[in-house]
Amino acid sequence: DAWLRYAALPCDVQKAASIPAGIVALNDTKTSPVYTAGQELHKGILGILRKDLAVASTPTNGSSITIGTVDAFTLTGGALPELDLKGDGFWLSIKNDSVQIVGQNERGALYGTFQYLSMLAQGNFTEVAYESNPSAPIRWVNQWDNMDDTGTHGSIERGYAGPSIFFAEGLIVEDLTRVSQYAHLMASIGLNGIIVNNVNANVNLLNSTNMAGLGRIADAMRPWGVRMGISLNFDSPRTLGKLTTADPLDEGVIQWWGDIATDLHNHVPDFAGVLVKANSESQPGPLTYNRTLADGANLFARAIKPHGDAIVMFRAFVYDNKINQTNWKADRANAAVDFFRDLDGKFDDNVVVQIKYGPIDFQVREPVSPLFGHLEQTGSVIELQVTQEYLGQQCHLVYLPPLWKTILNFDMKVDNKPSLVRDIVSGERFNQKLAGYAAVVNVGTNTSWLGSHLAMSNFYAYGRLAWEPTSDDVSILEDWTRLTFGSDRTIIDTITKMSMESWPAHENYTGNLGIQSLTDITGPHYGPKPQSQDGNGWGQWTRADANSIGMDRTVWNGTGYSGQYFSEVAAMYEDVETTPDDLLLWFHHVPYTQKLKSGKTVIQHFYDAHYDGAAVAQTFPKQWEAVKGLIDTERYEEVAFRLEYQAGHALVWRDAINDFYFNMSSIKDEQDRVGNH
Ligand code: GCU
Repeated sequence: DAWLRYAALPCDVQKAASIPAGIVALNDTKTSPVYTAGQELHKGILGILRKDLAVASTPTNGSSITIGTVDAFTLTGGALPELDLKGDGFWLSIKNDSVQIVGQNERGALYGTFQYLSMLAQGNFTEVAYESNPSAPIRWVNQWDNMDDTGTHGSIERGYAGPSIFFAEGLIVEDLTRVSQYAHLMASIGLNGIIVNNVNANVNLLNSTNMAGLGRIADAMRPWGVRMGISLNFDSPRTLGKLTTADPLDEGVIQWWGDIATDLHNHVPDFAGVLVKANSESQPGPLTYNRTLADGANLFARAIKPHGDAIVMFRAFVYDNKINQTNWKADRANAAVDFFRDLDGKFDDNVVVQIKYGPIDFQVREPVSPLFGHLEQTGSVIELQVTQEYLGQQCHLVYLPPLWKTILNFDMKVDNKPSLVRDIVSGERFNQKLAGYAAVVNVGTNTSWLGSHLAMSNFYAYGRLAWEPTSDDVSILEDWTRLTFGSDRTIIDTITKMSMESWPAHENYTGNLGIQSLTDITGPHYGPKPQSQDGNGWGQWTRADANSIGMDRTVWNGTGYSGQYFSEVAAMYEDVETTPDDLLLWFHHVPYTQKLKSGKTVIQHFYDAHYDGAAVAQTFPKQWEAVKGLIDTERYEEVAFRLEYQAGHALVWRDAINDFYFNMSSIKDEQDRVGNH
């Protein structure tokens, strides 16, 4: 149940709580989110307050909690104040004898219901009356689940919580209970869409058995207002359709995709859309046929256009993974802007470009992808990762909202006007109808969903921030903690302190000053392996040698990447003096003896930060002991185990990285710790 436990409040609080006598959910169709909302409210109140309220579908005489759309509510004579509701938004009015939960659409009514339940579950009985709108229309998750072959269980690319809940042995699983439970969780945090299969898509998803299976998945998620979409493999017309080409301008190919879209629509009438990874990491794409990326995106856009409001999410993660490090000016970070800048305006209106938050790949610290500033006529979707691919793979506690907020609050200053990333991906800055959020979540069959209890705060916070990116990361965490573990102050304080310390600590012991996550980048992206960064075509380079380190991304002497930002930001990054320390080595190649703003040298900062970060991780097991006896033993022990592991692994990280740079630079640690163990 994750944060939807609906645990009983203490008896005295239950007794003092006064809520209306019944529930009215103004739709009794079982697939309707309003019907779902009524049932959920019944279940929640039974759990939290031990009250068994009747659920009706038409207004009753007594006091009630009424759930419905604006239209349904006013049809039954309900009065509302002047509202300005956007898609999925809701009005929530809580008074002792009457609660109104009114959605702009059915989904909105469900989201309002979850908001009300969240308050009750936290023992909050305040009277309120307000409207709430999501910051952006697109609030999706991406699962990187594989179809796999016969005989194997659906593995998940970068998934750390067991096999897929969707796929096994090349097919869609029969029992979709977990799938609807997943939709339940998503709905409770305002998420409205999902891509169910890996971006590295298997064409077999489109065979006739699986098309029917997709229909079943969509059916399982529909009552929760979650719409389903899929990732497509660009080469499908060749590999599955046996055509001779996948050229996006070929008539046969256009027809083939048109038929697929029709078929999909027949099985999933409210199909959400398709996600396309093309010409990236050896995936096929339009460039293979000398067509533009826009030609590729529009191929799908036109195929799905006749069937409702489905969209194409075209990924900006397009780059060459065989670049040559001997070329000082080669830079993978340049790729997205190089590929997409001139395509702005060339995409159909049902295409959005999905952009990873940084120009490389979910690193512990990256500057904001400059592409966010360049798409004025095309909607942008920011891609985040809940699954901690580079950040300890759920074996380390890393609370991610502080990282995400650094990105979302960044001002790109496009044309010298305020251009916060969160205002770009809300669609506001460039006046886009379609824009928003996608996060790679990768839940699996593990009963904790993500393989780690504490990692779930990231999933919860993702939904909350996509709804309202200005929300405070600590209050989100506190809400999550109360809902997940209860309201004891020690629990809240302990989890908050550890979580808020976790990202800075992780950055300190895995890759500081903007050098990126110094993990095994050619292998599993886990554990320290600084030597793997350089000498390969992947372009996540550090260019470390005996004297100096960092990527020169300046315009005057380097790869020119800093020039992809707009003037004020570009000037800041171009100059070593004005570049923030935490991105110094991202933008500049400097001697190890370069002085930082703190007065330390780069190398001494490395040594110290690795000791500091590891020392913080060392405190986690002890901090966690404070909650012993306050939560159930099972979850206590599971978390304790992981924190103990993290404390140890942080030492491995510290010593591996420090020794590596000590050996590389031969510069001694001022405190004489490095190289001495
Ligand atoms: C990363 C990740 C891959 C994934 C890719 C993507 O490189 O390691 O597993 O396929 O991103 O986002 O497409």
